[in-house]
Amino acid sequence: MLNRLHKEFRDMRGGRMLTVMGRDIVTVALILLLGTGLAHGWPWSSDMVKQPSVKPQTAPRVSPPESVPIQGKEPSIDRIEAGKKLHNPVTSTAVSIENGKRLFNTYCTPCHGPEAKGDGPVARKFVPPPDLTLEVFRKRPDGFIYETIKDGGPLMPSQGEALLPRERWEIVNYLRSLQQK
Ligand code: HEC
Repeated sequence: MLNRLHKEFRDMRGGRMLTVMGRDIVTVALILLLGTGLAHGWPWSSDMVKQPSVKPQTAPRVSPPESVPIQGKEPSIDRIEAGKKLHNPVTSTAVSIENGKRLFNTYCTPCHGPEAKGDGPVARKFVPPPDLTLEVFRKRPDGFIYETIKDGGPLMPSQGEALLPRERWEIVNYLRSLQQK
């Protein structure tokens, strides 16, 4: 009787020892698996990252040495001066007015409204712009309006970054057609 109990106890202990060993093996395997996944330190885990490409959100590619700009930069001039000096190189054709309309509706309508009356949806939350069809704005030279689009006004933010010079003149042409209505 005592012998049998003793033997059962030994079996139980043996069994428990086995489960303990089993658990240890699983833990070690988990550490190894997760550890390898999380470790970026392995020499091969960054192979594809180290390459001579432009990464997202980094400065644009530097021009090759000794390269020369072919278009130059548009200088910022005073709006009154621009009104005297700059002449609209884009003839006011149906096509240029149509392009100007598309651009005006994208960049100007939010504040100025579709008819340039100053009733765009942003105007209610920002400073309401004036009605651009009034005589005072009809008399502004094309160059003045061009420079206003490029550099902004005392309150109007500059729209220069988004638009090419040709596109700004097309907007001027469209605004003129709105003013003639
Ligand atoms: C964020 C709102 C906003 C946007 C976008 C905006 N404007 Fe204006 N604009 C104004 C406000 C406000 C004024 C009046 C105050 C000022 O001149 O800064 C104004 C004034 C003007 C004037 C009168 C300038 C003068 O004194 O004769 C012109 C012309 C004009 N905007 C054209 C445009 C055109 C064209 C676009 C699109 C390319 C545009 N604006 C986009 C807010 C805006």
